[in-house]
Formats: sequence, structure tokens, C-alpha cells
Amino acid sequence: MTAAASFDAMFAALAPIGRNPVSGGYRRFAWTAEDAALREWFAGAAGDRGLTVTIDRAGNQWAWWGDPDRDGGPAVAVGSHLDSVPDGGAYDGPLGVVCALAAIDVLRERGFMPGRPLAVVNFTDEEGSRFGVACMGSRVLTGALTADRARSLRDRDGVTLAEAMAHAGRAPDQLGADPEVVRRVGAFVELHVEQGRGLVDLGRPVGIGAAIWPHGRWRFDLPGEANHAGTTGLDDRRDPMSALAVLLTEASAAARARECLATVGRLEVAPNAVNAIAARVSAWLDARGASEASVRLLVDDVATACGIAAAEESFTAATEFDDQLVGRLSTRLDNAPVLTTGAGHDAGILARAGIPAAMLFVRNPTGVSHSPAEFAERDDCVAGVEALVAVLEDLAG
Ligand code: HGY
Ligand code: MN
Ligand code: MN
Repeated sequence: MTAAASFDAMFAALAPIGRNPVSGGYRRFAWTAEDAALREWFAGAAGDRGLTVTIDRAGNQWAWWGDPDRDGGPAVAVGSHLDSVPDGGAYDGPLGVVCALAAIDVLRERGFMPGRPLAVVNFTDEEGSRFGVACMGSRVLTGALTADRARSLRDRDGVTLAEAMAHAGRAPDQLGADPEVVRRVGAFVELHVEQGRGLVDLGRPVGIGAAIWPHGRWRFDLPGEANHAGTTGLDDRRDPMSALAVLLTEASAAARARECLATVGRLEVAPNAVNAIAARVSAWLDARGASEASVRLLVDDVATACGIAAAEESFTAATEFDDQLVGRLSTRLDNAPVLTTGAGHDAGILARAGIPAAMLFVRNPTGVSHSPAEFAERDDCVAGVEALVAVLEDLAG
């Protein structure tokens, strides 16, 4: 089967799962019915290729070609995630998983016999859309997030991760770090749609990811006093929306001043009624930048301006991928451009756990991501498959 035919068939099979017919975006959240359909698809696609599927203690799915405990491990792993942000695009995550499985098809077609085990991984809950912590599966797997903290996280309906897992048929008391699996992985290369226009501007279909900016999420709980919109004088109000206005203005100004990125994309307003002054507003700040110090100073600026302490929900320090691996990928891929990204990825979490890791990026003509407008040309996707084939031939030959 050609790379193109394999890619087309799998990407088309995935397309309808969790798709919003109105917006064209996706709602694929951890431990939901959509997630179960995606996991079933992954297990089926792996089984069709004769790969052995295992699930680690963090809930991540691994499809093995060869036995990592017997056949000259540790393995070379590729893959990504299948979950999405609310109304996210079709490529963020699935592109990496589909290209990885398509690369296995091409290698088989060419009679390749790996000298060490290969694995395709589907990391669970990379976006943190439901429980608020990104890269949940890789963080729990590597011990970067404790199982207790993970189990206690709640979604917007108050459902804990433990309850959601149990409802999905996974024993939450099994949740935890899985050093056995981490030990089986000797190198991890994550292919991902580029979330920016670097490759468009460079005119290349595939690039190499060498580093991830420091980035984090903070919650600000702005207090107020519920009251009637029509009978409470302006001087008698304690309206948290005023503090929110200060927070938003300061976040934008501080980001510009500190050459960072600051985003407030999520609010929770209680009681969220048109004719009631809000009792409280929670605002989530996503802050990222080239330097950790600048990111943290930005958060401090915002906290000072609105007089509210920032509650850190997750933070990932600057991540440099494995130099040797990046160099090897660059040589193998005709000196493909080497990029830094502000987007977090499971590859970054594995790198921070000591696994030699790196990324491949596929050109995104729109540069847009976390939106239905996210896109990659089919030929560039196929170039991504071919790049993974070359990488796997090199690393596992
Ligand atoms: O938020 C991120 O950077 C990633 O998409 N989880
Ligand atoms: Mn994403
Ligand atoms: Mn992603």
C-alpha cells in the first residue's frame, strides 16, 4: 500500500469521530464516547497491521512491532494524540498518529525488518480540554503528574477524572506512573502539524522541532458580590467584571512588554445571568515565551494589577530536544529546517523524563491551529509519512 493510500484511508476513517457538523471542528475529550471511539479505531488500525496493542498505567495506547522486552529493545516510538481542544482542527494530534501507522505500512511494503522494536503511541488527553491539565497521559506515565492529583481533577460538570475513567471502563486505581513502559522507549519522534507558518515561509513541507518554549496555565478567581442589575447603584457594586477588565488589559500590555504570549480563552462566571451582577469570575491565563523568567514576570504583573493571586494549574519549563537526535533527523531529512515552537507536546514531556525525543512538523498553509481552519495539504501529509519512514529506517534499521 502506498503512503498516500494508507494515509487517505485512515484519515478518512477518523474524520467523522467527534466532528461538529456545523463548525467542522472537533470535540474529542478524554474518557468520553468520542474518546472510546478513537481508542477503538486505534486498536483496530494497529490490529490490522499485526501490531500488539497495550495500554499503560496512564491510559496511553501503544502498538508494538516486536517485543520491547525481548527483541533487542529499547524501542523507537512514533505517534502523537487523538484528542482535541473544543472545536479544534482535524490535524492537531491525529496527523501524527495516522502518519505513524502509514509509515509502518510503507516499511512493511518495502520488506523492512526492524533491528529493534517499533511502537506507535496514542497519548491520552494531550490537550487537557476536559480536566484542565495538558499532556495528562505523558505526565502521569512519566511521573510528572501524580495519580492522586490526576484522579481528583474535575471537569466543568464536577466529574472527577477517576469517575470518568471508571465510567469508560478503566480502573482509576490502576492510574499511575509506568516506569516499565518508559524503560522500553529508547527514542520518541512525534510528527505534528505545524501550529504556525514557519514552513510556509521557508517553502518546505517538513521541518524538525528542536525546542518548546516554557509555558503554563494560571487561574485567577475574581471575587464579587451578587446583586440585582437594575436596583444596585454603581457605587454600591462589587462587580468582578471590573477586575476582569483590568486583568485582560494588563495581560495584553505585559505580554507585549515582556515579548511573551498571553491568552485568556476561558472564563467561568457565576451565576452567569444577564440581570445579575456576578458573584465571581474565574479567568484562565495561558502564558508562554522564550524565557521562563519573562513568563513568570508577566503572570506577576497581571496578579499585581488585579490584586488577585494567580493559581498555577500547570507549568512546563523550556524543553530542548535531544541534540544528537535532532542532528540525525536533520541529516536524514536533507537538512530540513529546525524550528522552535510555543506549543506543548507529549514529546516535550518525554524529553523532560530523559527519553531522547524530537519532533517533525508538517507544513500548515493557514498557520492556524486549535481551530477548524487548521489545515495541511495531502501531499505534505504524505511527505510527513515518507519522513517518518526515513527516520524509522535510520533509527531502527
Ligand atoms: O496547548 C498546547 O500547546 C498543546 O496544544 N496542548
Ligand atoms: Mn493542541
Ligand atoms: Mn497536539
